[in-house]
Amino acid sequence: MAEIPEHATGLVLKAYKEPLVFEKFPLPRSAPTGTALVQTLVVGIRPHCREHFAGNGFLKFNLPFISGNSCVARVISAGPDAVALRPGQLVFVHGFGVARDDPVNTQTLLGLHRGNGLTAEGAERAGVLFDQWPGYWRDFCSVPLENCIALDEKRLVDELGYTFDDLMYIDRLLVAYGSVNAAKLMAGETVVVAPATGHFSGAVVEVAAQIGCRVIALTRSAKKLEPLSSRHANIVVVEVTGDRAADVAAIRSHLPSLKLGADAYIDVSPPQATGNSQHFDMGLEVLRPGARAVLTGALFTATIPYFSLLLRNITLVGKWMYTWEEAERVARMVEAGVFKLGKQAGHDSGSRGFKFEDWEEGLLEAEKAVEWGRHVVFKP
Ligand SMILES: NC(=O)c1ccc[n+]([C@@H]2O[C@H](COP(=O)([O-])OP(=O)(O)OC[C@H]3O[C@@H](n4cnc5c(N)ncnc54)[C@H](OP(=O)(O)O)[C@@H]3O)[C@@H](O)[C@H]2O)c1
Repeated sequence: MAEIPEHATGLVLKAYKEPLVFEKFPLPRSAPTGTALVQTLVVGIRPHCREHFAGNGFLKFNLPFISGNSCVARVISAGPDAVALRPGQLVFVHGFGVARDDPVNTQTLLGLHRGNGLTAEGAERAGVLFDQWPGYWRDFCSVPLENCIALDEKRLVDELGYTFDDLMYIDRLLVAYGSVNAAKLMAGETVVVAPATGHFSGAVVEVAAQIGCRVIALTRSAKKLEPLSSRHANIVVVEVTGDRAADVAAIRSHLPSLKLGADAYIDVSPPQATGNSQHFDMGLEVLRPGARAVLTGALFTATIPYFSLLLRNITLVGKWMYTWEEAERVARMVEAGVFKLGKQAGHDSGSRGFKFEDWEEGLLEAEKAVEWGRHVVFKP
């Protein structure tokens, strides 16, 4: 296990459209209360980094900015209040920042997106939290204790044969499981998911299939979904054509014949589908009475069939990210082999992990890796 060095080295964005620069940050001799000091083994690069670093993206952050929203890491030192984490422990450090003194109101995406409050005061509080915990594009990081999910290294690496790169995919499983759990899905139930070919939407399809649901995935391109759909017999793909009656009939042809509709619909639409989301209307239309609909994408607005939802007693749930319990459950399900990772799951973490020095190349590769299952990482 590494000693605590004098300094951590990280990649910093100092000005939009300017190259990232290396900076050194002093490290404490041991982890202070409430924190873990970790050595970063693998850290993700999101597809839209270049766009945001040019000042053109929708994510908010102040400059200077250290990116990096989740990592696989090893604990070097755990704060005096740590009761479970010990030096040497392999952890997945997620980036969903939750205020310790205001957990319901104040949450933020560390190293990714500062402002999330719906009011000015909410945004200010989220900003305080965001600024306190810089992103994980550093070789050693001080991170909130509660963001560290302990991983069973012997099980995952020695027995299941996963690499640390493979474990980075937990990032997507956490978000996907959050929405599958919000839909209260159980094995044997039928869920409609739309869209289905993105990083997160594909992961929702994947997770629902792996917990034993029948999944009807709506997409504009069945071919794009083949790498995922061909792996699971319980995923069927409906390619939407724009002819609503025909598309609804196609969805209904895959519903269990003894039920009046699907048990749940999970919407994972990106913002650009706002105003053009027939899949959303169809997802709601095919639900049985008493079903659940989860809104977990990023549509700015959508119209709902109020009276029809009311008559069917549909529960409409908004879901952002995941709880600590959900994150913990995902880790245990990965260890149990319920959620598969790496090659055996069809995931592709690129040809290699990039060194921080090769950040330009890494960002370019990440920009192209937008399909389900693909992810690009730094290995500092
Ligand atoms: N709730 C949360 O906690 C949470 C967490 C992470 C991400 N998100 C949100 O989830 C959304 C989806 O993430 P992702 O990574 O899966 O997204 P993505 O890669 O941005 O897009 C997913 C899919 O959306 C479809 N699409 C794109 N433009 C469309 C349009 N104009 N009309 C209809 N469909 C369109 C495409 O699917 P087809 O080609 O198959 O139609 C695309 O593959 C994001 O916007 C993100 O902000 C939410």
